[in-house]
Amino acid sequence: MSMTLSPLLRKFMLTAHITFSVGWLGAVAVFLALAITGLTSEDALLVRTAYLAMGLSGWLIIVPSSLGALLTGVVQALGTPWGLFKHYWVLVKLVLTVGATLLLLLHMQPISYLAEVAAKTDLSATDLRGLRLQLLADAAAALVVLLAATAISVYKPWGRIGQWRRQQREHTQRVAAGRASAAPTPWGRYVLFILLGAGLLLVILKHLLSGGMGHH
Ligand code: HEM
Repeated sequence: MSMTLSPLLRKFMLTAHITFSVGWLGAVAVFLALAITGLTSEDALLVRTAYLAMGLSGWLIIVPSSLGALLTGVVQALGTPWGLFKHYWVLVKLVLTVGATLLLLLHMQPISYLAEVAAKTDLSATDLRGLRLQLLADAAAALVVLLAATAISVYKPWGRIGQWRRQQREHTQRVAAGRASAAPTPWGRYVLFILLGAGLLLVILKHLLSGGMGHH
């Protein structure tokens, strides 16, 4: 599947893509600051304000930004020679973004719940502490994922999908013909696997922990 965007439309869509995706990162940074304030402040009014603002920024900015980043990203991938499944950097961003968006949508319910409670009453330091801690951990994890997605977008690492096997085959042939020595260490590949493994582990750990706290 490939349609090609005209240069003008490609720039326009790329502007939208960067605005949505990096705006999402900025909104999550604000959300994290509010989550820390909500958990640590002794000022009851400030705590209520923080959770109300988290509810609003979640629904009005973060959810639309995530869907916008995903949608415009897929359009850029399919509308340019990059393709959706041709380059590792695009595929990894797709996986990270779909994962982050799904987790976000799942976690909007506890965010709304806390905002509702905060709208009605003061939260003491111990009220709903597990849930408040979970939102802080969510925001921190999301920030790490979005920073990784931003860096991956700029560096565009790991090359084309299928290229490693092809290179390995060619290298083996050269070694067999006595025209090359053993292959160098594929560090980039290790980084990719460690990143994906760490991400998977993070999601699993988080859900074991939050399951243990009895929420969801
Ligand atoms: C939060 C997640 C994301 C962030 C922070 C992000 C960020 C960026 C940035 C900063 C660029 C510009 C890079 C440059 O021009 O050198 C870019 C380009 C691009 N992104 Fe994303 N992106 C995200 C998600 C996605 C997703 C989900 C896809 C598609 C699966 C995607 C596909 C692309 C493509 C194909 C380009 C190149 C477009 C072009 O050259 O016209 N991105 N992204």
